[in-house]
Amino acid sequence: MPAIAVLGAQWGDEGKGKATDLLGRRVDYVVKFNGGNNAGHTVVIGDEKYALHLLPSGILTPGVVPVIGNGVVVDPTVLFHEIDDLQARGVDTSRLLVSSNAHLIPSYNRTLDKVAERFLGKRKIGTTGRGIGPTYADKMSRVGIRAQDLFDEKILRQKVEGALEQKNHLLVKVYNRRAVTVDEVVDELLVHAEALRPMIADTALVLDGALRRGEVVLLEGGQATMLDVDHGTYPFVTSSSATAGGACTGAGIAPSSLTHVIGIAKAYITRVGEGPFPTELLDEDGERLRRTGFEFGTTTGRPRRCGWFDVPIARYAQRINGITDLVLTKLDVLTGWDRIPVCVAYDIDGERTTEVPMTQTGFHHAAPVYEFLPGWTEDITGARAIEDLPKNARAYVEFLQQHCNAPISAIGVGPERDQTVVVNDLLA
Ligand code: IMP
Repeated sequence: MPAIAVLGAQWGDEGKGKATDLLGRRVDYVVKFNGGNNAGHTVVIGDEKYALHLLPSGILTPGVVPVIGNGVVVDPTVLFHEIDDLQARGVDTSRLLVSSNAHLIPSYNRTLDKVAERFLGKRKIGTTGRGIGPTYADKMSRVGIRAQDLFDEKILRQKVEGALEQKNHLLVKVYNRRAVTVDEVVDELLVHAEALRPMIADTALVLDGALRRGEVVLLEGGQATMLDVDHGTYPFVTSSSATAGGACTGAGIAPSSLTHVIGIAKAYITRVGEGPFPTELLDEDGERLRRTGFEFGTTTGRPRRCGWFDVPIARYAQRINGITDLVLTKLDVLTGWDRIPVCVAYDIDGERTTEVPMTQTGFHHAAPVYEFLPGWTEDITGARAIEDLPKNARAYVEFLQQHCNAPISAIGVGPERDQTVVVNDLLA
């Protein structure tokens, strides 16, 4: 049976939880394959609200095995904070597995993330300040510390010593901070070693076994296509691979196991942090979208930048990921507009294109070319079938579907789990 990826098709915060909910009990494993505690999803179950940053959402579904894959960067303090919080609320976290190859975020990388941003000044990325970028940089520079290193203190000490030779130069000479000692880093990391030990596994091997047994493995993407380090709006991106290729690498499964790629897109678009954003609304309309859509970051609380749906981005996400189904979220937020602009192309210095620009300069110069669709005023939050939607809402969905090269298989019409119009079975 299949591996299914659920990925953001825009700049993140698309509401991936809707798709995860729809797949619900049919999933056996939920794997987080990239990012760290820069992500954030709020899951509401009954009267309980859970804010998860690092743990895969599958932790809340009885029977599912949640997995933190090798592509993730783990802040052990945050991991155990989330686990303790869930346990205190009666959630069973005992099935959680953590890849022995996942990299750890030492506190010096949190410091470096924040000071580096300060030094960038106007050129800052707008990171979440959680140490994500420096930890992925260490991974690529081969000076990272992995989960498995906690179980061999001699090796851990050697690796920390090696890393600190570089880090202390940076901290002291470049950023004017105090040097950190090997002992303090080793102690900080070892605090969690015993608690982590039973969770550590060769998760790629575990997932291979699951797929061979015909079980369903869901690969849950953090961030999104336009924040992917290769395919996003570099350098205003996160430092991991948030696209379908990254799902395979970050979980350690073969690309040929991936049978379904579900892209999540909001009915409009938002972004947190800096970087180009052609359809951004800097006026009262943007404020209205932010207000009605509650567009404030789950992790940092920052107001999200809001804009109209961008077709070139959605088509690009379809192409880069091989999206087989789209889930359109937050359609209800668009209720009450007289007309709804949809960006169908860009004007770049007088030239019209329907593709995402090839260069950063092109992206910065891209002005949206809009088509205007008639709005609707009817409350759609109770719709459960496509026929329940008013004519203009249906036409809006149909228009996006035609332009985005993928069927819209589900539509979110409200924040609750059941406030969804299901058009096609996502596992068909
Ligand atoms: P970092 O991932 O903390 O390095 O931040 C890099 C960029 O990705 C910044 O613009 C962040 O705001 C953005 N980012 C990181 N995680 C998320 C997310 O889960 N949703 C939306 N934006 C994110």
